[in-house]
Amino acid sequence: MTPKIAKFLAEQNPATPCLVVDVDRVAARYGALADALPLARIYYAVKANPAAPILSRLTALGSYFDAASIEEIEMCLEAGAEASKISFGNTIKKVSAIRRAFAAGVPMFAFDSAEELDKLAENAPGARVYCRLLVENEGAEWPLSRKFGTTLDHARDLMVRARELGLDPYGLSFHVGSQQTGTAPYEAAIGRVAMLFTDLAEAGIDLRMVNLGGGFPVRYRDEVPGIDDFGRAIMHAMTEHFGNDLPEMIVEPGRFIVADAGLVRSEVVLVSRRGADNPVRWVYLDIGRFGGLAETEGESIRYRIATAHDETGAETGPVAIAGPTCDGADIMYERANYRLPLALRSGDLVDLLSTGAYVSTYAAQSFNGFAPLAEHYI
Ligand SMILES: Cc1ncc(COP(=O)(O)O)c(C=O)c1O
Repeated sequence: MTPKIAKFLAEQNPATPCLVVDVDRVAARYGALADALPLARIYYAVKANPAAPILSRLTALGSYFDAASIEEIEMCLEAGAEASKISFGNTIKKVSAIRRAFAAGVPMFAFDSAEELDKLAENAPGARVYCRLLVENEGAEWPLSRKFGTTLDHARDLMVRARELGLDPYGLSFHVGSQQTGTAPYEAAIGRVAMLFTDLAEAGIDLRMVNLGGGFPVRYRDEVPGIDDFGRAIMHAMTEHFGNDLPEMIVEPGRFIVADAGLVRSEVVLVSRRGADNPVRWVYLDIGRFGGLAETEGESIRYRIATAHDETGAETGPVAIAGPTCDGADIMYERANYRLPLALRSGDLVDLLSTGAYVSTYAAQSFNGFAPLAEHYI
């Protein structure tokens, strides 16, 4: 928790559940990534948290933006971003969205299939396009590998076809999976990209850009390597494979920029036991899977949880942690060995830390009648 968030919570005592984000911390994280990878342009992945105060702060810092939809593009424009600094990074786009983005001046589009390429040629003629490669997501706590990207051979053919269709075959992208805890997948993916650069150069196509995607991790329950480790590993792999002739480099961080800047404050609604002697208590919070904590699916993202009892060093015991709705899937953690203070009671406040990314936009509109998650940007 940042000092600014602590002060806000103490003074305002906001109704729960709520997300509180320290926008200065967002700026600091942007700066840390820029320092770790000074040669890369940063395209903030808007999907991680599209709140206007975040987008306008990043715009002021000179950030570029990776948008997943025409709606996200419009949010960036409203926040003052120039269209020329936006990439339409989703490989799955409606024709109407491509047209609107192109008309707004968005210069760059992702694809990973022949049909999408045809849609781009027809509706964004002459645009810069980059093909997303299928890469290993080993080590990612929130993998993305099965749904996106294509093989090297197919990507080669598609880039040749892009040129035939009058598009600008600009570069290649990959995503090593979100909350990627190791540097090796970036290094391996850069090797694959470099092979394709060479292949395509032989076909007369000189690619200019490598998009290294997002994936940079934050500390939830477990320690992760620092951003400087990722910067060093990436630059080492880039120079190993491209020598002094480095292409333009792009990164699309989402989680790394905003997760650590926010926390969710929640109230304990109920603490119960299945049988008086059962050591496991069920702790029901006023936020759950449908209130925004969607990434607890499969217990994949394991948030740190702080309570007012922690400071006293009170005894803890095993817990399962669930949300407030009448849905059996609304369980966050049952197998992840969470422990909370034995003193915890209904009415107590708990903080779910580093929840600034991939929470606010996942919150349901009115499931079981609960209002969408309140948000405070300070
Ligand atoms: C195309 C693309 N770029 C960037 C990101 C952001 O990834 P992360 O939040 O892991 O940095 C995502 C996440 O889904 C993505 O799909």
